[in-house]
Amino acid sequence: MLTLTQPDDWHLHLRDGISMTSIIPATSRCFARALVMPNLKPPITTCAQALDYRKRICAATAPTSHFNPLMTLYLTDNTPIAEIAKAKDSTHIMGVKYYPAGATTHSEAGVTDLRRVWTILEAMQTYELPLSIHGEVTATSIDIFDREKIFIEQILDPLLDDFPKLRVVLEHITTLEAVEYVFSKNHHLAATITAHHLLMNRNELFNGGIRPHHYCLPVLKRESHRQALLMAATSGNPKFFLGTDSAPHAVGAKESACGCAGIYTAPAALELYAEAFEQVQALDKLEGFASFYGADFYRLPRNTETVTLEKRTWQMPPDFDFGKEKVVPLRAGANIYWQQVQT
Ligand code: NCD
Ligand code: ZN
Repeated sequence: MLTLTQPDDWHLHLRDGISMTSIIPATSRCFARALVMPNLKPPITTCAQALDYRKRICAATAPTSHFNPLMTLYLTDNTPIAEIAKAKDSTHIMGVKYYPAGATTHSEAGVTDLRRVWTILEAMQTYELPLSIHGEVTATSIDIFDREKIFIEQILDPLLDDFPKLRVVLEHITTLEAVEYVFSKNHHLAATITAHHLLMNRNELFNGGIRPHHYCLPVLKRESHRQALLMAATSGNPKFFLGTDSAPHAVGAKESACGCAGIYTAPAALELYAEAFEQVQALDKLEGFASFYGADFYRLPRNTETVTLEKRTWQMPPDFDFGKEKVVPLRAGANIYWQQVQT
């Protein structure tokens, strides 16, 4: 048995409408809070939209649940500066998400050039409002496996030189270079790590055939990078914390000639992290990573309830309802080695 302070998920895609209603319980069964990504279609670009979206999430959450969704704004070339001041004053809006235009699912409206949002970044630095970053360059001339590393060199490092006090979360890091970079910088820079990047290397994209349900962005990397992520997540360094990037898509959108990016891990998220931490005999480091460091970074109180995991093998269902469609989770039809004890 493993009992932890209730964790939070600092990077989550909840989608909207009836699809959202079907997937909220997978997260709220375990996590107290989640930082909800704004990449809807159309994106959540204003505080009013974020607060409306939050109301829809709360309305779709079981009345008995204490799940608290925390919101982000989608940064565009045209984000008005007034939204940043409003976001700073909102208890429900925790930060702003920077998608380089074209970097990932629903990022078309993202930032084309950081110089276009300079005054926004200045305001965020002043207000100490965190910037969440999808850290990949988008040029097709750059190999997809190098896009995070090049982003750090060409975009992030100059950005942090210009804004040394900007509070930044480099989301879903996937490489040794990102791990080293985050370790090397001050406490204003942190990173989230997903369960799937801790458990899988890029061979899983092609294991016996092409595996659309293992395709996400940033794409899985080679084993040495996975090892670096495991080291960082289990280091006890508070700059690294849990963000699942659980990103459901309808089965037809994944199993397609041009399948979209995103892995749905919410139905076993904490259990998958426990499996990864156990691989390196570091279960004692899971609570800090899952339950403390994210809350500390976002300057929120740590949770007071607990969750308990039991070492018990069970089988992940082949799919779940996703509105009128189905979504295939990670490990569909296969074993999960930890299970949350229902209280
Ligand atoms: C995410 C999605 O589907 O919204 N996809 C993914 O592969 N991670 C977007 C993102 O976080 O990049
Ligand atoms: Zn994401």
